[in-house]
Amino acid sequence: MAGPARGSARALLFALLAPALAALLALLVAPARGRGGRGHGDWDAAGRLPPLPPREDAARVARFVTHVCDWGALATVSAQEPVRGWAFADVLSLSDGPPGAGSGVPYFYLSPMQQLVGNLQENPYATLTLSLAQTNFCRKNGFDPQNPLCAHTILAGTVTKVNETEMDIAKQSMFIRHPEMKDWPASHDWFFAKLNITNIWVLDYFGGPKVVTPEQYYNVTFQ
Ligand SMILES: *[C@@H]1O[C@H](CO)[C@@H](O)[C@H](O)[C@H]1NC(C)=O
Ligand SMILES: *[C@@H]1O[C@H](CO)[C@@H](O)[C@H](O)[C@H]1NC(C)=O
Ligand SMILES: *[C@@H]1O[C@H](CO)[C@@H](O)[C@H](O)[C@H]1NC(C)=O
Repeated sequence: MAGPARGSARALLFALLAPALAALLALLVAPARGRGGRGHGDWDAAGRLPPLPPREDAARVARFVTHVCDWGALATVSAQEPVRGWAFADVLSLSDGPPGAGSGVPYFYLSPMQQLVGNLQENPYATLTLSLAQTNFCRKNGFDPQNPLCAHTILAGTVTKVNETEMDIAKQSMFIRHPEMKDWPASHDWFFAKLNITNIWVLDYFGGPKVVTPEQYYNVTFQ
């Protein structure tokens, strides 16, 4: 175990190295800038992930992570025996808008046949975890998914059906990034939903999760 002296020396080292590390990261991802024209999954395949925003701007990092993620793990409270009342996480596809035009609102395309939808009908409170581990960012930089440098976010709130007004935006956001969904069987009664975000935690650096408010999160604009 590191003593206090070693601990503070290490903290100092991080403080000194952080700007250099940030500059190095910017250099590493800079060639990816400005190519545009992504579709589903291309963040990875074509290595076109835009640069990570400055880590001190947690709201911006949160919006970035939401936008580049095509899927996440949604944790609900199980309504089904034998695990009723237990946390229950499942993977689901999501989109906050067409590439380069994210709104920050995570939209989903759900079916009552999914276990998580059954859970949500009893208890709409859920947490959504999104990680850059699904892009080439963490692999390329050698960051383990549990390392905070492999930026990830936890968004809590309620999952709600989108209304008629918002339906077009939800549909366009989902189908542009998940084209095969358009052909999924109508018999599954698919519907559009979103996470109504109430709490946000960002893990993008050492020192514990950063709290971002929904106001700060939705206030972020990308040029
Ligand atoms: C539909 O939802 C949006 C977003 O939550 C909201 O701004 C709008 O007022 C709602 N429209 C109706 C008709 O309820
Ligand atoms: C979203 O959550 C807020 C805070 O809990 C609540 O006031 C609001 O009614 C919710 N909106 C929808 C569309 O469920
Ligand atoms: C919203 O963004 C503006 C411009 O970046 C900033 O000055 C303001 O403090 C932000 N407000 C909130 C609530 O984050």
